[in-house]
Amino acid sequence: MRIDVVSIFPEYLAALDLSLIGKARREKLLDLNVHDLRDYTHDRHRTVDDTPYGGGAGMVMKPEPWGAALARIATESPVSNAPLGDKPILIVPSPAGAVFDQEMAYELAEAQHLAFACGRYEGIDERVLEYASEAFDVRPVSIGDYVLNGGEVAVLAMVEAIGRLIPGVIGNPESLIEESHSDGLLEYPVYTKPGTWEGREVPEVLLSGNHGKIARFRRNKQLERTATRRPDLIVQLDASTLNRHDRDT
Ligand code: ADE
Repeated sequence: MRIDVVSIFPEYLAALDLSLIGKARREKLLDLNVHDLRDYTHDRHRTVDDTPYGGGAGMVMKPEPWGAALARIATESPVSNAPLGDKPILIVPSPAGAVFDQEMAYELAEAQHLAFACGRYEGIDERVLEYASEAFDVRPVSIGDYVLNGGEVAVLAMVEAIGRLIPGVIGNPESLIEESHSDGLLEYPVYTKPGTWEGREVPEVLLSGNHGKIARFRRNKQLERTATRRPDLIVQLDASTLNRHDRDT
């Protein structure tokens, strides 16, 4: 997969050199390019913002540097250059976007080319999104109902959630199957050695070697946790994913 990120703080994205995403880059599973928006300005001060038309607080990101940066990325896209290719996807992190979740992560992990436009200040001139939609499938996306100072932290979260779903990025793909949100439920609690720690015992069933009982114990914990911590997820559950024993729980 190719990923391009445009930001006025490219240093923020340095964390994408670490851990599994960094390894995926080195192994060429992920071709990740970070661009400094100021490289697409032409004035001495490398200006990227200006006052809002209509008045109001704060500054708005100017359209020209964005237009130039996105046009360059579109030209380099392996998708739009392919015969009969679809458009690459441009994600615009914004608290006013559709909320990012595991389902969206799975969908985006299938893409060949993702670009991220990190806004700062009061946001990017709206015409940039219209212009970009000629070359990209443009999607404003929020990582939750709270306000960050810019899109960079949201991009770190999204790239990690998407990147780990790319085949080969996670050593043991089994771990993707049992984690939170993969089946609409939160994951069960886990324990390791020692068996007794600070006077607390590991649940006995996990030492029993009875795989059926262990599976039932874990499933019950998933249901219990989800019901107490995230009742909204229980309401959304597709009844067909519940088994007979779940219904008795
Ligand atoms: N930029 C500012 N707040 C944001 C949020 N909640 N999600 C994505 N991008 C943002």
